[in-house]
Amino acid sequence: MAERKKQTVVSSGISGLDEILRGGLPASNLYIVQGAPGSGKTTAALQFLRAGVALGEPCIYVSLSQTRAELEAIALSHGWTLDGIRVEELSASDSINRAADQTIFQTTELRLDETRKAIESAIEEHKPSRLVYDSLLEIRLITADSPRFRRELIAFKAFLAQRNIVALLLDTQTYETDRTGEEVDGIAHGVIRLDKSLEEYGGVRRRIEVSKMRGVPVADGYHDMAIREGEGVVVFPRIVPGAAARTVKPQLIKSGVDTLDEMFGGGQESGTTTLVIGQAGTGKSTMASLYATAALKRGESVGLFLFEERIETFFRRSEGLGMALRQFHEDGQLILRDFNPNEISPGEFGQ
Ligand SMILES: Nc1ncnc2c1ncn2[C@@H]1O[C@H](COP(=O)(O)OP(=O)(O)OP(=O)(O)O)[C@@H](O)[C@H]1O
Ligand SMILES: [Mg+2]
Repeated sequence: MAERKKQTVVSSGISGLDEILRGGLPASNLYIVQGAPGSGKTTAALQFLRAGVALGEPCIYVSLSQTRAELEAIALSHGWTLDGIRVEELSASDSINRAADQTIFQTTELRLDETRKAIESAIEEHKPSRLVYDSLLEIRLITADSPRFRRELIAFKAFLAQRNIVALLLDTQTYETDRTGEEVDGIAHGVIRLDKSLEEYGGVRRRIEVSKMRGVPVADGYHDMAIREGEGVVVFPRIVPGAAARTVKPQLIKSGVDTLDEMFGGGQESGTTTLVIGQAGTGKSTMASLYATAALKRGESVGLFLFEERIETFFRRSEGLGMALRQFHEDGQLILRDFNPNEISPGEFGQ
């Protein structure tokens, strides 16, 4: 059978997202990034352009919704600069303000024309490989009627395609625009959704979904993400149990206490999960530490994840019971992490 030709992809600038996309965004296409205000669209878009700048590609950020100063502030909050990114700020441009003075009937066509011309001439002049358009909401507001908006988008897509540009169009989702979203989705090569929700308790839960990507078998569904200072948008691809795990031969894991191991028919079988239940102070942690210590002494590596205790507390408690684990931790044989369950998503924990 003929080998399938791999399509050229470009990095999205977000490593977890590239993984979900099986490498990156197919080159020279138009993508829509949807999300509520504050969901991370601008941050993700800046990462996309910065990845281009790192490769020496000309990049352009067309902004109808944010001023250059606002963009700079977002970049600065992560310790980034906009160096190498051309920012085309249209909201404050004279042409649009002039158009706004015209009568109602002229306004729509004039404003669309002026906006389109400004963007097209910036593209012709700068010849970018990557482009960000922030956001479609402004064009929606100018056009009001969706067929006009759709035609505008189709024309823009053709314009970009002729110039081999990879474009991210940011789409701010408000309650009213949810309806028109679907029509826009049909025009784009791919659609990425950023989701932000509040749980009953704890921090905001951020998730990403690639709801459409033509010709790519993406990892579908929600993947947890976070916005971190200095890193921007970080994506944690969902872990799907692989076939490889099933081919490993099970072994018996011993606790080092013969009577306990006997109770389990020789030990705990590897590749299985055992839930240890008991009232406070009945010895659950101690029992877990037994297994860990026995494995470490056999030269195996151990991972311990703590949700209730700090690492230091854990060390002191196990030392009090005669189990010295500190050295194994320093040597890297014991991996120890403490988490606050309210502040971490399942996806991030999985990573
Ligand atoms: N330095 C930072 N560290 C961590 N999180 C940050 C930082 N700066 C901003 N954020 C978070 O990122 C969110 C803003 O992301 P961004 O501006 O990319 O959203 P957006 O989708 O473009 O919003 P809008 O639709 O309003 O333009 C903020 O609401 C804040 O929660
Ligand atoms: Mg924004």
